[in-house]
Amino acid sequence: MTTAKDLLFSPFALGPLSLPNRLVMAPLTRCRAGEGNVPTELNARYYEQRSSAGFIITEATQVTPEGVGYLRTPGIHTDAQVAGWRLVTDAIHRAGGRGFLQLWHVGRASHPSFQPNRQAPVSSSAIAIRNGHAYTPEGPQPYATPRALETGEIAGVVARFEDGARRAKAAGFDGVEIHAANGYLIDQFLRDGVNQRTDRYGGSVENRARFLLEITEAVTGVFGADRVGVRVSPLADFNDMSDSDPRALFGHVAAELSARKVVYLHVVEPLSGQALDAAARVTPLLRERFRGALVVNGGYTLETAEAALRTGAADLVSFGAPFLANPDLPERLLRRAPLNAPDVATFYSEGPRGYIDYPRLGEAAVERASAGAQVA
Ligand SMILES: Cc1cc2nc3c(=O)[nH]c(=O)nc-3n(C[C@H](O)[C@H](O)[C@H](O)COP(=O)(O)O)c2cc1C
Repeated sequence: MTTAKDLLFSPFALGPLSLPNRLVMAPLTRCRAGEGNVPTELNARYYEQRSSAGFIITEATQVTPEGVGYLRTPGIHTDAQVAGWRLVTDAIHRAGGRGFLQLWHVGRASHPSFQPNRQAPVSSSAIAIRNGHAYTPEGPQPYATPRALETGEIAGVVARFEDGARRAKAAGFDGVEIHAANGYLIDQFLRDGVNQRTDRYGGSVENRARFLLEITEAVTGVFGADRVGVRVSPLADFNDMSDSDPRALFGHVAAELSARKVVYLHVVEPLSGQALDAAARVTPLLRERFRGALVVNGGYTLETAEAALRTGAADLVSFGAPFLANPDLPERLLRRAPLNAPDVATFYSEGPRGYIDYPRLGEAAVERASAGAQVA
């Protein structure tokens, strides 16, 4: 008898890649890169432990020094970073896994203390994030008012994403994911709660999608569209984001990405506590408009993931916090074994604790000060 469980643990052809299951490791920032924002052996060990995922999407990785907004996040703009990521891809491949690097620029979600020459961060428009803080080397600080990129500067930023893709390829990644979600630079162009531009990158949905589509074309030129995915979060309000008509905007984005044949679209639905009903209105539209694989994310469990696959709502499901806390998540879900609880206190801390010491099934549990599921 075919059951939904057979679907989650059944193979899937993602472009040229044969995935052994449909369970994806979602991108997770862990703030544990080494000096110069270079990935280390510690990072390689963490990803290697999670190689039983259908495929791994790495933590968000800045394509340029101007794209930094947090401490110790890895980059993909120096040769040393390429060498560091090579440790990671070798470890993933040795363990039989597959890895995509998430290409990132935080835009206005930054602070002068992260920027070259302490300059203002850049964005689509000169509007600061009011809610939340930048976690700088000098402690939490209000976000700075960004500088709106000049029209003539935008091609240069697109080129940074292209360079990042080239370096990700040199580092041995199987593909890349363009981070257009969660209120970072590309999302700051997409959504009109932030984008107030009057040039060809602002105004209509076509204009606001242009930056993402130019990046997509540049990056697919490096990797081939069958190794490029895009992540969006149409309804998320993180980083003060909003849009007057998410259906019109993201329906257009999905159709244009489909025309460019990107291999998957990764949709972050609102996380628990937000309006899931609203998500239910946007995701089916994206499914309709986008021909490639649809990856869904946001608070999924074994049961809800199975239901999404069974009903045809999605092709793949990504797990964030559960994968962070369970290196052997596919095996645990397959066996319906209990899951380790994520330790929020060590999400962004330093060192191996709360990073590479979550036990596999049958290993002794580690004593922790705090435990409880939470997503950022
Ligand atoms: C510690 C942590 C770090 C995260 N870092 C990223 C990131 O680098 N890029 C990204 O697109 N999303 C990031 N997210 C969001 C997750 O990918 C995911 O969307 C979220 O955790 C919801 O999925 P889940 O319920 O399966 O955890 C992060 C979430 C957490 C908890």
